[in-house]
Amino acid sequence: MSRLVVVSNRVAPIEPGKASTGGLAVGVLDALRQSGGIWFGWNGDVTAEEVPPGKNQTQGNITYHTFGLNKRDYDQYYRGFSNATLWPIFHYRVDLSRYSREEYDGYRRVNASMAQRLKPLLKPDDIIWVHDYHLIPFAEECRMIGIRNRIGFFLHIPFPASEILTAIPPHNELLKTLCYYDLVGFQTDTDKLAFQDYITREVRGVLENDGSLTAYGHNFHMGVYPIGTVPDDIIKQAESYRARRNFISRSIEGIPYKTIVSVDRLDYSKGLVERFCAFETLLERFPQHRKAAQFIQIAPTSRSDVKTYQNIRKQLESQAGHINGRFSELDWTPIRYSNKSYDRRTIMGLFRSADVGLVTPLRDGMNLVAKEYVAAQDPEDPGVLVLSRFAGAARELTSALIVNPYDVVGMAEALDRAIRMPLEERKTRYEDMMRIIRKNDLASWRDNFLKDLRSVKVGAEAGTVTTLRAVGAPVA
Ligand code: G6P
Repeated sequence: MSRLVVVSNRVAPIEPGKASTGGLAVGVLDALRQSGGIWFGWNGDVTAEEVPPGKNQTQGNITYHTFGLNKRDYDQYYRGFSNATLWPIFHYRVDLSRYSREEYDGYRRVNASMAQRLKPLLKPDDIIWVHDYHLIPFAEECRMIGIRNRIGFFLHIPFPASEILTAIPPHNELLKTLCYYDLVGFQTDTDKLAFQDYITREVRGVLENDGSLTAYGHNFHMGVYPIGTVPDDIIKQAESYRARRNFISRSIEGIPYKTIVSVDRLDYSKGLVERFCAFETLLERFPQHRKAAQFIQIAPTSRSDVKTYQNIRKQLESQAGHINGRFSELDWTPIRYSNKSYDRRTIMGLFRSADVGLVTPLRDGMNLVAKEYVAAQDPEDPGVLVLSRFAGAARELTSALIVNPYDVVGMAEALDRAIRMPLEERKTRYEDMMRIIRKNDLASWRDNFLKDLRSVKVGAEAGTVTTLRAVGAPVA
C-alpha cells in the first residue's frame, strides 16, 4: 500500500510518554503509529538561520522530518496570520482577531517553502495528508511545483459561518487555495455545511450530484470525519495509574471531596472564564457543595507570546485567586488551578478518579478531552460528563449533560445535578457514550479519511467525478 506522509504545522511529541498539547498531536501520532509513515513539519524551534536545516529522525515505523522556523516566519506565519487572524476568526472571535498584509504574505511564503522542502522526500505513490488551518494553501503550492500525489486536508478546528469568515480580507484567495485539495475533511456536519455554503453562495461553486464541489475550475470532495480516541489504551492508562495513586483530596473527616476536573490548553476558545464563574455560582447557590466539592483545572500555557493569550492568563489567575479568597477554609481549597502539563497516564488516572468532567468550550472543532474523560471511567462507577453544545463532540456524545457555556447559572445547575446523579443514570449515560466512542474511534477517523482519499482520481484522471463512500461519517 502507498506510504502515508502526514504534514502538520507542529510535529510533536517525539519523546514517548511526554505530554503533548492539543488534539491534533495526539490524534496524528496515534494514527501514524498504526500505519507508519513520515510526519513532516515544524519542530517548535525558532532559529537565527534564514533557512533552518531539516532533520530526519526515525522511531519505530515513523520518520519525523522536522525543521525550525526563522524569527520572521515564526512571527508572520505562526504567531501572526495563523494564530492572531485565522484561529480567532475560525472560533467566532472576530473581536480578538487582527489582520496584516505582511503576516498573510508570510503565511503564504512559509506554505510555499514547506512544499519545496517536502518535494524531494516524496515517492510517486505517496499519499499526503495535511492537517489544520496553518496549511490551507499547501496543496496549491504543491501543485505549482509539479507534485502530483493525492493530497487530502483535515481541518481540526471549526469552519465558521460565511459572515464570520468574510471578515478575513483575503478570504476569497484563501478559500480558493483550499479547492486544490483532492479531499477536504471536517469534524462535523455543521462545519462541512458552512464550507459548502461559502463555496456555493459566496463564489458560486456547484454542488455536484455525488456530493463533490466544483469551484475555481477544480472538482474536489469533502466529508465529515469526527476524530476519535483509542479507548482501550485510555482504559489501560487510567487503570494503571489509579492503582498507584489517588489524586483526590479528603476532608479532615477523611471523606473524599467530589471532584470536578477540566484539562485544556490555556486558550480563550475553551470558555475557562465562564467555567470559573460557573463553579463560583455553584458554591454561591448550592452551599451544600462548600467543603464538599473541589475543582481541578489543568491548563498548560500555549502561544504565550500572543497578546490575547497573555490577557486570558492574567484574567484566570485573578479569578482563581478571587474564588479561593472568597470561599477557602483552612482545610479546603475550592479551586486547584495549574499551568503545568502532565503525561497522558497521569491525566487519564485523574479523569478516572474525578466525579465530573467539565468540558465547556465556547467553540471547539471536536475536543478529545470529552471523549477521553468518558473512556477513562470505571464502568461500575462512572463519572458524569458536562459538555458544551459548542464542542464538536456534543454532536456524538448526546448522553452527556449538555450545557450552553454562556449560561453560567445553567452550568452551575448542571454541575449540581452531575454531582448528585444516581449510579444507574450515570451507568446508562456512560454506556451510551462508550458505544459511540468505540464506533467513532481513531482508527475509523483515519481509515475512513484515507479510504476516501485513495479513491479520489488525480492528475490526468481529475475532472472525472468519482464515486466515494457516502461521505459524512455517522455520528450518534
Ligand atoms: C490545536 C490546533 C492544532 C495545534 C494545537 C496546539 O489543537 O488545532 O493545530 O497544534 O492546538 O497549538 P500550538 O499552537 O501550540 O501548536
